[in-house]
Amino acid sequence: MTPEMSRVLTRLEHRSNSERAELNRLNDAGPSHTRAAAGQLMLDVGPDVGRLLAVLVRSRTKPTVVELGGSVGYSTIWLADAVRAAGGRVYSIEPDAGKVAQARANLADAGLAAYVEVIEGTAAETLPRLPGPYDVVIIDHWKDLYIPDFDLAWTRVAEGGVVVADNILEPQATRDVMARYVDHVRAVPGAWSQTLPLGDGVEITMRTGDRS
Ligand SMILES: C[S@@+](CC[C@H](N)C(=O)[O-])C[C@H]1O[C@@H](n2cnc3c(N)ncnc32)[C@H](O)[C@@H]1O
Repeated sequence: MTPEMSRVLTRLEHRSNSERAELNRLNDAGPSHTRAAAGQLMLDVGPDVGRLLAVLVRSRTKPTVVELGGSVGYSTIWLADAVRAAGGRVYSIEPDAGKVAQARANLADAGLAAYVEVIEGTAAETLPRLPGPYDVVIIDHWKDLYIPDFDLAWTRVAEGGVVVADNILEPQATRDVMARYVDHVRAVPGAWSQTLPLGDGVEITMRTGDRS
């Protein structure tokens, strides 16, 4: 990790910690409250999941990485640094124009802008025109979109590639919808899927091809 990346991550983690109490209050009030305030909040995956993403990206050669829900670029920085080492490219999709501007500025500050295309738009409108195959996909946007956008992305996931979905275990308010996502991905033919209790809980779904 370069000093520039370390400095930006530290700044963003400080911001995330300062937003934690408000985020907990909104999550307890229900997903619609969190979503209404989302433009002002990072809602990031945190450092443990950031490191996991870096490991997964670095395990591939010249990976194509697609992120659904980039927010202000915290997870994107982990992905971009891994792509800097492994070759390849990150496509980070985020519909909020203010967050897109912040993500681009944060990536530039971290010295990682050259490895990422930050795309302003929704996953549903952007995925059909993104080149595949995808090596690593991270799903971290609105929870009711996880299943349709997983299905859209899955058709282009490479053999041995993975889809990582965040917030499987937390917050409690979205536990039911996340359980339906887990049931969905575990029923997909040619997929192997596990929950890891890291951060807010991630489901990792690997395209296995003929292996089970
Ligand atoms: C939980 S945050 C992402 C946090 C980010 N992955 C990180 O770790 O820093 C979810 C983001 O998804 C974005 N979003 C909402 N609907 C979306 C869609 N249809 N496609 C892509 N992103 C979406 C929101 O604007 C929000 O910034």
